This record gives sequence, C-alpha cells and structure tokens, in this order.
Amino acid sequence: MLKIVVMVSGGGTNLQAIIDSISKGRISNTQITGVISSKPDVYALTRAKENDIPCCSISKKSYTDTESYQQALLKALSNYQPDLIVLAGYLPIVPAVVIEMYRNRIINIHPSLIPSFCGTGCYGIHVHEAVLERGVKITGATVHFVDEGTDTGPILLQKAVLVENGDTPQDLQQRVMEEAEWVILPRAINAIANGTIIRENQNVWIRE
Ligand code: GRF
Repeated sequence: MLKIVVMVSGGGTNLQAIIDSISKGRISNTQITGVISSKPDVYALTRAKENDIPCCSISKKSYTDTESYQQALLKALSNYQPDLIVLAGYLPIVPAVVIEMYRNRIINIHPSLIPSFCGTGCYGIHVHEAVLERGVKITGATVHFVDEGTDTGPILLQKAVLVENGDTPQDLQQRVMEEAEWVILPRAINAIANGTIIRENQNVWIRE
C-alpha cells in the first residue's frame, strides 16, 4: 500500500481528483495518510476533513525563523509517514531539507507542457495568462519529479489541451484542469503505487 501525503495551497481540485480516483478504483494500492496546506483557511482542507483524511497547515509566516518552519514541516510529514509526496497546487518552494529527505519521492503537477511556461513566477493562473499572451495553440499539463530546481525534475506524464479562440485565462485553466491535470496526476500516482515506472536517469516512462 503506497502511503501518500498531498500538499496543497488552494481549492484542492487536484486533491479531490485523487480522492475520487481512489474511491472509484482508478488509483489502486494507495492511501492518503495526510494533507498538508501552506495556508490555514483553504478549501482543500475542507475536502480533506470531509473525507476523514488527517490534515494540518504549516505556514511559513507562522514561524519566527526558517529553521523552525522547516523542522515543523519535516515533523508534519514524518507524522504521516509518506512513501510519496504529491504537490497538488502547492505554491511555496519546497525546502532543500525536505527534497533531500524524500529524494525521488516527490511529484508535482504543473499546468503547462514543461519546459514551456514554467519556472519562477509562472504558476496557477499566471501560466494561462502567459500562454494566451504568447498565442500558442496547444498547452496542457505535466507531472514531474521534484528536485532542487523550479519545475526542473524528470518528466513523468504530460497531456495536451487545445487553446480555443476567445479563451480567457480562467477558461483555459478550467479546461487544463479538467482535461489534463485531473487525469494525469491520478494516473501517475497509480503507476508509482503499482510499480510500473521505468526510470533511466532523466528519462522516466510508465510501462503500459
Ligand atoms: C491549478 O491551477 C493547478 O494547475 C496548480 O494549482 C492550481 C490550483 O490547484 N497546480 P488546486 O485546485 O488547488 O488543486
């Protein structure tokens, strides 16, 4: 049984997709042992409580110094004993001590086709604003392993989504979530839970 901790910062629609996929059997052999939010009053925590999933919030601004914040985050994680950490709309930079402790066991969902429209400052709705600004016709989402960089770890899954004439950033965000994020994140978790990942350095594949 793969124990996962989901880290969130907002509405938790990706968390909900994982919860629903587990309950419908699209993700097997997996248990969400905890949800950690970077903010205390987000709907993602409501979703966790509604599904009887232990949860807490660890906000950097609640701590007087970086060291105590990082220790609190590590303690919260160790309480849930994760085999895999899933960043699902989680906005803060993951501290290096966490990446070191859980090396190769952290994945993230990003709302573009990395390496396009990613990196520092390119997150959430800003991604879709940049996509529309550039006028690309195809965008999508990416699940990747997390390393010390920003959106730089090995890519695990991607799914393309068409940009439509007249799209607002909000239209595009919703389509990318529905058609890509909520599909590939559960698929990636299920592959990890069932040992169908093939990894050769930076190249990662799912054995169908
Ligand atoms: C979404 O835009 C998602 O692409 C990004 O964070 C935003 C909120 O996600 N990763 P969620 O609804 O909190 O899962």
